[in-house]
Amino acid sequence: MKISVIYVSQTGNTGEAAEYIQDGILAKHPFIQVKLMNIRENEVDMDFLVHSEAVVFGTPVYFSSMSWELKRWFDQSFQIDLSGKLGAAFVTSQSLAGGVDTTIMEVLRHMLVKGMLVFSGTGHDPAHKFQIGAVGIGKDIEHSSGQFERFGECIAQTSIKLFGR
Ligand SMILES: Cc1cc2nc3c(=O)[nH]c(=O)nc-3n(C[C@H](O)[C@H](O)[C@H](O)COP(=O)(O)O)c2cc1C
Repeated sequence: MKISVIYVSQTGNTGEAAEYIQDGILAKHPFIQVKLMNIRENEVDMDFLVHSEAVVFGTPVYFSSMSWELKRWFDQSFQIDLSGKLGAAFVTSQSLAGGVDTTIMEVLRHMLVKGMLVFSGTGHDPAHKFQIGAVGIGKDIEHSSGQFERFGECIAQTSIKLFGR
């Protein structure tokens, strides 16, 4: 099984969150191949992406929206078939009131348009706080490490449930 983590990070916070998600995926499922791909560094590996069962998208919140680099990636990748894959979103921001939910919903809308299945958290589990996606505050990103790790673990579990090992 393969899981792609595609993200934008200018000052490192979202990249660090991506690493916590990777740690969470691998903690109980070390057989999963995970690839972190920073759009700003042109790291998107198309072959790995199209063969991934799940794709996790991450962005800093810019003016209550996704970063323009991720929006551009979505706009330019309309020919990439991600239909039927599991999708999930995470963001980092300056503030919890800074537009995290609107940004996550924006990313989820792009997943829906691409025909992806959307991972929305598992509301019955009190061990985590994410409902529609994972969120971390940039200047204190380590504080959210446990949530991002749990997010990764849940994505891995759901992927295995849907697609098998
Ligand atoms: C141009 C710009 C716009 C931003 N707009 C918001 C915003 O609307 N709300 C918010 O909470 N944080 C905002 N931030 C803060 C970033 O979302 C936050 O610092 C984030 O963790 C940066 O991620 P990075 O280190 O991966 O680049 C903005 C930052 C920049 C540079």
